[in-house]
Amino acid sequence: LNSRAFSTSSFAQDIQKITVYGSGLMGAGIVQVAAQKGYAVTMVDLDEGSLERGKGIISSSLKRVAKKQFKDDEQKQKEFIEFTFSNIKTNTDSGEGAKDADLIIEAIVENIETKQKLFGFLDKIAPKDAIFASNTSSLPITELAKATDRADRFAGLHFFNPVPQMKLVEVVKSEKTSDETHHALMEFSKKLDKTPVTCKDTPGFIVNRLLVPYLLEAIRLVERGVATSADVDTAMKLGAGMPMGPFELSDFVGLDTLKSIADGWREGGQVDPNLVAKIKTLDDLVSAGNLGRKTGQGFFPY
Ligand code: 3HC
Repeated sequence: LNSRAFSTSSFAQDIQKITVYGSGLMGAGIVQVAAQKGYAVTMVDLDEGSLERGKGIISSSLKRVAKKQFKDDEQKQKEFIEFTFSNIKTNTDSGEGAKDADLIIEAIVENIETKQKLFGFLDKIAPKDAIFASNTSSLPITELAKATDRADRFAGLHFFNPVPQMKLVEVVKSEKTSDETHHALMEFSKKLDKTPVTCKDTPGFIVNRLLVPYLLEAIRLVERGVATSADVDTAMKLGAGMPMGPFELSDFVGLDTLKSIADGWREGGQVDPNLVAKIKTLDDLVSAGNLGRKTGQGFFPY
């Protein structure tokens, strides 16, 4: 049977081998959830140091997952961790990692030129029918796909931090993404025990389009002297059931990330500029290098 003849049926392109570019928080998280489910995953980054850090992220997260899944059984926990790591290879050679991949997921730095350069390079090396996906949270999928000759096999696959815990994946379908590619990525997400949603290629997709203006407005509210950041966080946690208040969440996401998304949308002009108007508090924190949890200081100290 040729699965390509059944693009709208339950047949999905067979994905077995996955290569993930980028071993930061997101890349490592994606590697982990795929390896946990038995996929053969290659994690690629520029140097061994980055890959070691990526493995460290996976290792500490896996311990939490294993403890939860196999509560009082240390042997099973150990086996689960070993099984997951046995499915992970690492590589610093970006071409080598792509040669036999069925699915390539990019989770490198949020810079359009850097991403396009990588995708253009991989397009020549990866198997012709391999699917390319980007975990970008702020760049247009259509523009990234232009670096390749496979816009039909190119989509967004947007995970959320912490990847092993957050259940959602946004599957972003550009105008050129084929139904078959979309279907394969929906099925792949479900196999990772995630819940996929489909979204058009628009700024922020669903979650960030709503979340970013909300986070920014929380900062403005404090600038206007309405309440303290601590009280805003308490209010949103206890009054709206959020697991983290907007300030804690901004520190968690990274203030540089938040600022760069807002700046990009303002400059791109596709989002109401009032929603993403410049905010002095945010700009000052970022220029002082206080980027949130990862630097030990953001709105709050860590
Ligand atoms: N790996 C595996 N499991 C993890 C984990 C990790 N890195 N981090 C947390 N968990 C699990 C814990 O094991 C625990 O599981 P359980 O409830 O089943 O026992 C659960 O998450 C809760 O963890 P904790 O008890 O340690 O801590 P909290 O209750 O404070 O939860 C949190 C932490 C899950 C991060 C929670 O605060 C939360 O959901 N925050 C909001 C996160 C969010 O909104 N993320 C999206 C950000 S936007 C984004 O990523 C898009 C990007 O493009 C900007």
